[in-house]
Amino acid sequence: MKIVVVGVGYVGLVSALGFAHHGHTVTAIDLDATKIARLAAGESPIFEPGLEAMLQEQLLSRRIQFTTDGAGAYADAEAIVIGVGTPENEDGSANLSAVYQAAHEIGLNIQQDCLVIVKSTVPVGTNDKIEAIVRGALRSAVNVDIVSNPEFLAQGSAVHDTLHGSRIIVGSESAKAEVKMREIYMDYGQPIISISRKSAELVKYASNDFLALKISFVNEIANLCDILGADIEEVTEGMGYDARIGSSFLRAGIGYGGSCFPKDTKALHWLAEDHGFVLRTIEAAIKINEKQKYMLLHKLRKEMPNLAGKKIAVLGLTFKPNTDDLREAPSIPNLRILQQEGAIIQAYDPIAMVQTAKELNDTSIMRDSIEAALEGADACLIFTEWDIIRAITPDTFQKWMANPLVLDGRNCFNKNDMEVAGIAYQSIGRPLIKVRQLQ
Ligand code: UDX
Repeated sequence: MKIVVVGVGYVGLVSALGFAHHGHTVTAIDLDATKIARLAAGESPIFEPGLEAMLQEQLLSRRIQFTTDGAGAYADAEAIVIGVGTPENEDGSANLSAVYQAAHEIGLNIQQDCLVIVKSTVPVGTNDKIEAIVRGALRSAVNVDIVSNPEFLAQGSAVHDTLHGSRIIVGSESAKAEVKMREIYMDYGQPIISISRKSAELVKYASNDFLALKISFVNEIANLCDILGADIEEVTEGMGYDARIGSSFLRAGIGYGGSCFPKDTKALHWLAEDHGFVLRTIEAAIKINEKQKYMLLHKLRKEMPNLAGKKIAVLGLTFKPNTDDLREAPSIPNLRILQQEGAIIQAYDPIAMVQTAKELNDTSIMRDSIEAALEGADACLIFTEWDIIRAITPDTFQKWMANPLVLDGRNCFNKNDMEVAGIAYQSIGRPLIKVRQLQ
């Protein structure tokens, strides 16, 4: 099928390559000419495992092309996928201007019957508005169906998630559109769930918000573990065996970040409030997460009330490993506080140092290796569980740090090994407990 994808961010680009991989003929468009030129040359503008190889493979197969010319591409498309961004407005609501702009241009330029597939995460009811905009802009008598088809890929595993997703949600108001969607996804080998458009819109928010809530719940229990002397990993292991709870997304840490959970929790909360309804669980998740991201600093202050002049190693900057994304990464506001309080920051990340230095307006805080970041440090804060960080041995902390105080926001290490090596080690919800005596 001839498919046009609008927007080559994470969702748009990975979906476009997924369609090409499954034999469709894809044109991916974006307003950003530099991005389009890089993509056409086989270079991915984002860091995502396996993405560049997939891009080059699909360019070679000639099933995908990149252009800034939307008008030309829309004219003979059989399906047009909207995958543009929906950033957060100041009040927490979703900013839909790019989606509406794309809808308007699609309406102006399509010249044959086609499907408009909305993959961008949009509040319930937005598909109806998109339909009105597209139909209002039409210049020829064509039939257009709008379908909600939310995307569930996670950064760092986006290619895998697209090829091996858990489900394909198809929210449509027309049987014809549903048949066409099944045709598009015929070879994906994933369950296709056909539901109403509004339900599909809500599936996306409810799924992300549920996961955010699950993480916040575990983080609260972890904080309680710290107080009571239980271990969150033992607790979640015990919980996870119950299939109704499941063992995934129970990792305690310094909170969720990224481009989805923080934005989507606020957007759903805002949407409900706009309808006179308060989503108390989501409100709680948002508040817990806001506090959790400062947990390491809270623990550090107990050990070191005055941070001025103290050398603080910071390991891991991105919101999670295997991505270069710093959006809502807990590291950033923490680094800002360390800066303001006069700490000497020595930061390392395998991929996001240039971007972080720009964000904080200071290149002097970056170090080019883990050892250089740890050298002479009075404390070490860990924000991201990159493999290279998880692989640090207790000896390395001992060897390089002036004072081996390690505050681990992602529970990367075995706490007993760290204790044996003489490191003052604190993590999230895993206080040092005396090893159980066998009777
Ligand atoms: C998420 C959803 O997983 C994906 O389905 C949706 O399409 C977009 O949002 P993403 O933000 O890329 O994907 O990453 P994810 O792996 O879900 O992690 C989000 C945040 O939660 C990260 O900051 C991560 O560190 C944190 N997290 C995740 C935890 O703190 N504990 C966990 O157990 C899992």
